[in-house]
Amino acid sequence: MCGIVGYIGYRKAVDILLEGLTSLEYRGYDSSGIAVNVDGKVQLYKAAGKLQNLKNIVEKNYADISKSTIGIGHIRWATHGAPTVENAHPHSCNCGKVAVVHNGIIENFKELKEKLEKNGCTFRSQTDTETIAHLIATKFGEVHDLTEAVRLATKEIEGAYAICVMHQDLKDTIVATRRNAPLVVGLGEGENYVASDVPALIQYTKKAIYLDENQIATLTPNSVDIIDIDKNPVEKKIETLPWEPVALSKMGYKHFMLKEIHEQPDVVRNVLSGKLRAIDENIILKEVTLDKETLKNLNRIQIVACGTSLHAAMVGKYIIEDFCGIAVDVEPSSEYIYRKTITDKNTLVIGVSQSGETADTITAVRQAKSKGSHILIVTNRPDSTMAREADSLIPVNAGIEVSVAATKSYMAQLISFYLLAIYMAEVKGINNLNELKHELIVLPQKIEKILAHKEDIQKCARKFANSKDFIFIARGINFPTALEGALKLKEISYINATGYTAGELKHGPIAMLDESMPVLSILMKGKVYDKILSNSEEAKARNARMIALTDSDDTKLNELFECIIRIPEICEILSPALAVVPLQLLAYYIAEFLGKDVDQPRNLAKSVTVE
Ligand code: AGP
Repeated sequence: MCGIVGYIGYRKAVDILLEGLTSLEYRGYDSSGIAVNVDGKVQLYKAAGKLQNLKNIVEKNYADISKSTIGIGHIRWATHGAPTVENAHPHSCNCGKVAVVHNGIIENFKELKEKLEKNGCTFRSQTDTETIAHLIATKFGEVHDLTEAVRLATKEIEGAYAICVMHQDLKDTIVATRRNAPLVVGLGEGENYVASDVPALIQYTKKAIYLDENQIATLTPNSVDIIDIDKNPVEKKIETLPWEPVALSKMGYKHFMLKEIHEQPDVVRNVLSGKLRAIDENIILKEVTLDKETLKNLNRIQIVACGTSLHAAMVGKYIIEDFCGIAVDVEPSSEYIYRKTITDKNTLVIGVSQSGETADTITAVRQAKSKGSHILIVTNRPDSTMAREADSLIPVNAGIEVSVAATKSYMAQLISFYLLAIYMAEVKGINNLNELKHELIVLPQKIEKILAHKEDIQKCARKFANSKDFIFIARGINFPTALEGALKLKEISYINATGYTAGELKHGPIAMLDESMPVLSILMKGKVYDKILSNSEEAKARNARMIALTDSDDTKLNELFECIIRIPEICEILSPALAVVPLQLLAYYIAEFLGKDVDQPRNLAKSVTVE
């Protein structure tokens, strides 16, 4: 969603702002802007659409803009008001001296706006953010201190925010604060940075301070001071940022998504490393701090997540129930938070999130926490807001994922669930999972085999790229795979795709089938293979164009399916981790063939920080 970058130091601020915003582009946005201070005057530059539009404007005025060594920048994902130049950040006050960028939503902005308008403030945009600019300017007029003005303003603001502010009269100060939205301060020599996410910083510094809720940071080129909302100084906890700048390079791949799909064999090895050491040794999962006795006696688990993470959670449910006999409920976080959920201290609640910043999932785990449940977070971002809510934290270590469509983080979540399920089974004294452990160890080679033959999937993608709709069918443990395959296709190619349990097809969806509707059957050898085959016959009988994704070498399939994507044989219980790879590639190649913006699909954001 929105992204913030701020710089203060001795270099050309504009260069750092634009590079920082470029590295946040993957989050999804629809307008952008910067504020700099040139010759004692705050100047705003904004553009609707892609960041390149802002870069073009900057280029024309570069000689002037590049004089500034202080600046704040923003990419906006519209919530209040259309993605226009007027609504793009930074926003300013009547006199134009204050510039503000903001991520999040100000819930009481209407009341604040009314009050501010009565006091003479003139609004130029439809955004909630503009109220912050006027409010801070009003407070500054009273106290003549930017940090104090921000502090007083935040006392009146309700909602979620990360804010960066500069004032025309203070050429060496940026003030930043946050509540329920992330903000990190990067530390340099004679220069300092602030950003809403690490990618904007890692090419400049590895030293950073993660701001906590309601903390206010005052940055100058040579200092960073932090206070809490009651003005108490806060001791700075300097941390080392987790990634290398190379993580933000495509490394020769056409898109980040393709690179990230190819990283999956190593992601599996990483997740397993140190946890699954040998087939005949128990899984080591020190991250789970729940004592073994409680774990053994758990009779209920709830998993909350959204989107792709929800699909990983569905596989998690299947295997925890299968291995451990514990009842698991999986629910989209956005539903969980608006009903009476039966949660207590005897329930383990697992939150799954790539970004760790998904607003619905954060709210869900907070609600469960307030009822006394142990909170286990499975996330790719151990530095995230959600991770900070965790009693137990499993960092999935997939490395930064730039493409909006989640691929390698899904793989890492799946493997983490397999480890967790085996770990819990072993705690309960169930020790019949050695074959699965072996399969986990050899999984990376099998994924590599699929990647080595990706041209076959590319050919299939070409054949079906012009379809308007798609159906994915599966049963059992691969039903989430069908949902994930359909989601990937929808997200990046905008083709209407739906996943169904194959048995449900004849209860309604079959009415849609004809020669214009491709049906992709996930046919992995095991308990439900024959059933799905029959369901595929039923679809074929309605003239649907059939695609198979299978680990079977049965030649009879050739008659039924127009296109067969064959993958290495794998035990059914682990098959979701292998079967998803060709579906990611299929979605990728279809979108690429259609010329879509694969890494930054329209309307989507990498982390959905609003409910
Ligand atoms: C995945 O391809 C999607 N971009 C989206 O569904 C995503 O999984 C969802 O928004 C949840 O995000 P999270 O994992 O960061 O919580």
